[in-house]
Amino acid sequence: MYQYDHYDQRLVDERVAQFRDQTRRYLAGELSDDEFRPLRLQNGLYIQRHAPMLRVAIPYGNLRAAQVRKLAHIARTYDRGYAHFTTRQNIQFNWPRLEDVPEILAELATVQMHAIQTSGNCIRNVTSDPFAGVAGDEHTDPRPWAELVRQWSTFHPEFAFLPRKFKIAVNGAAEDRAVIQVHDIGLDLKRNQAGDIGFRVLVGGGLGRTPIIGEEIAAFVPWPHILSYCEAILRVYNLHGRRDNLYKARIKILVKALGIEEFRRQVEAEFAHLKDGPATLTEAEVARVARHFVDPEYATLPASDAGYEAKKAENKPFAAWAKRNVRAHKRPGYASVVLSLKATGVAPGDITAEQLDRVAELAERYSFGEVRVTHEQNLVLADVRQSDLFELWQQLRDARLATPNIGLLTDIIACPGGDFCNLANAKSIPIANAIQARFDDLDYLFDIGEIELNISGCMNACGHHHVGHIGVLGVDKNGEEWYQVTIGGDQGNHTALGKVIGPSFAAHEMPDVVESLIAVFVELRHADERFIDTVRRVGVEPFKTRVYADRAARQDQQRKVANG
Ligand code: HEM
Ligand code: SF4
Repeated sequence: MYQYDHYDQRLVDERVAQFRDQTRRYLAGELSDDEFRPLRLQNGLYIQRHAPMLRVAIPYGNLRAAQVRKLAHIARTYDRGYAHFTTRQNIQFNWPRLEDVPEILAELATVQMHAIQTSGNCIRNVTSDPFAGVAGDEHTDPRPWAELVRQWSTFHPEFAFLPRKFKIAVNGAAEDRAVIQVHDIGLDLKRNQAGDIGFRVLVGGGLGRTPIIGEEIAAFVPWPHILSYCEAILRVYNLHGRRDNLYKARIKILVKALGIEEFRRQVEAEFAHLKDGPATLTEAEVARVARHFVDPEYATLPASDAGYEAKKAENKPFAAWAKRNVRAHKRPGYASVVLSLKATGVAPGDITAEQLDRVAELAERYSFGEVRVTHEQNLVLADVRQSDLFELWQQLRDARLATPNIGLLTDIIACPGGDFCNLANAKSIPIANAIQARFDDLDYLFDIGEIELNISGCMNACGHHHVGHIGVLGVDKNGEEWYQVTIGGDQGNHTALGKVIGPSFAAHEMPDVVESLIAVFVELRHADERFIDTVRRVGVEPFKTRVYADRAARQDQQRKVANG
């Protein structure tokens, strides 16, 4: 994992000192709310519904055990004993006291963490594949490249005040697990015929109010020029992105307005000036960063562990967990384990201080002291020996981190919604909980197979509802909370935006609506077909018809009961 050098550490320490003084002056009445706002936002500090909210960056989702312990300590000491992992591989604290935030940042700095650029109109935390370095389908490790992007973008003076926030994701595997098609810039590592590394560059993707899938702007940018190329894109955006209208400010709107050809022409014109300039990467620079991402000291093991196979054969719950939560590893005898943060009744992505401490301990014992965060709001221990899986599972079960539901209907992505977020139109967490409670039967969940259900509390789409196989969006109707449902969205290589099935629903209807959708799927599916594939094959119509017919029948029934 990347370790700060002297330069990184000094930048972060200086920022902590500055913010300590800014907070002191604000609390002393020397700075107004308006003066303090940009200063706090530059340190990831929002003022939310109930309290401040602090968003801490986890670059490309990588954490060391010591960092996880520090997060536990912060949750316990300065918050209410828990924290929340987001879809951007960040972690949020929902209840810190403003006067404690400088101290929290100082504590974070001791373990090489910070909240810089987790908010505001700048280049945000760089995201990547949580299985980087261990996935069998990976051709190039994206982590050194994500780290180079992080170093280049941190405090880049030209991009501190962009028209709007800016998100970059990097993928290096055959399967895209970094959702690069819905990022402002998606970098897809490639090798050309000569075996040289370069990037296919996507631009102008994003969710939010106007969801758009990114378009290819360059088929292959050779690696020495990738930062200059990104710089060229950001320059065009910085110059021409709309600053007059918040809702039209993202780069996706500019790319759409100009058309990809014209946008590309302008980027190429900038690139002609920037190419071979100071942002050009050298072999030495790449090697400096890549040194931090060498493989840990794997043991030489047989491809498959006999003890592990035997345990699976004799223990059904363990086999179920292994099937859903354990993934193949590129090294013989190893596996990657997904820790589910989606136990029934828990807000998706929430984790307690005790669980964080347990995760740190388990990472040290079983996975070279490293933890990854996924954009689905789960955690990963990337390097576990197959022979340790049974023991690890038992410990994870004790910690309520072993729900065998990864990729299933109850592995819900949800934003904090109306429970915490000022911008929400409706709550998300109770909807997630109600659906989880309705579908608590594991055998049934296994039967219906992979389904991604994503919930956002408003059109900002923090919960990725557009790319959920089932998407749920909170909407406001005359001051009441309603929910619009989409189906057919997808992430990864086949990224697609879901289609609205019709008028929205009241909160209490949502588990029934999901049940109706699943019933149609079960009737129409071909053997072992996934929900999304059935939707693609038969279209929205059968789902729509059934959902509203079932709803009318329910309402009819209720009327009969009401009328005695
Ligand atoms: C509670 C504090 C939060 C606030 C105030 C907030 C605010 C926003 C806003 C205003 C946008 C729309 C930006 C735009 O389109 O220009 C947005 C988008 C987004 N946020 Fe949040 N958010 C919050 C929490 C979260 C959480 C908890 C997550 C993850 C679960 C998250 C992940 C995202 C993502 C993935 C997007 C979509 C970005 C895109 O357009 O591609 N945010 N957020
Ligand atoms: S989608 Fe809306 S409600 Fe949910 S966290 Fe984002 S801004 Fe808040």
